[in-house]
Amino acid sequence: MKKVALLFLCAYALNAAQFNPAMQGYIDELRLEAKKLDPNFKDFDALRGEKIFTTKNIGKNSQEISCQSCHGSDLKKEAKNIFTGKTIAPLSPSANPSRLSDVKEVKKWLKRNFKDVYLREGTAIEKGDVLYYLIKQ
Ligand code: HEC
Repeated sequence: MKKVALLFLCAYALNAAQFNPAMQGYIDELRLEAKKLDPNFKDFDALRGEKIFTTKNIGKNSQEISCQSCHGSDLKKEAKNIFTGKTIAPLSPSANPSRLSDVKEVKKWLKRNFKDVYLREGTAIEKGDVLYYLIKQ
């Protein structure tokens, strides 16, 4: 058993662009929901996620914003919250390993941030797409 665990750990360390087991569980949940929304659903798509992340929309306070308005266009760098002026640490998991590691945190912020930009909650498909995009950054 120990050897198997070690192998998994090595595989995990070698491939940084991978979700940890808890996050993978969340992705699996989203995938089940996505299949309910669309019976033809195959898998999440990072390119669709990038579009969701970069597209501007009339959002909170009637301002035209995208996810980049607070997280910046280079996710490896710090950015500034457009509403509060506070600094936001890099969203890229390669630059900031704590990112996309805590399911509760990710759920909370996806919910809030989709409402900021799109004035509604994201669907399971949209959330999965965005997470597929972000994990590669
Ligand atoms: C109004 C500013 C703002 C906008 C717009 C915004 N975010 Fe955020 N986001 C934040 C803040 C603030 C946090 C929490 C502070 C932190 O984690 O540094 C956060 C955290 C997150 C996290 C948590 C990451 C982690 O694991 O720690 C994710 C994922 C995220 N945002 C995705 C998005 C997506 C997707 C969009 C577009 C739909 C978006 N954000 C738009 C401000 C924003």
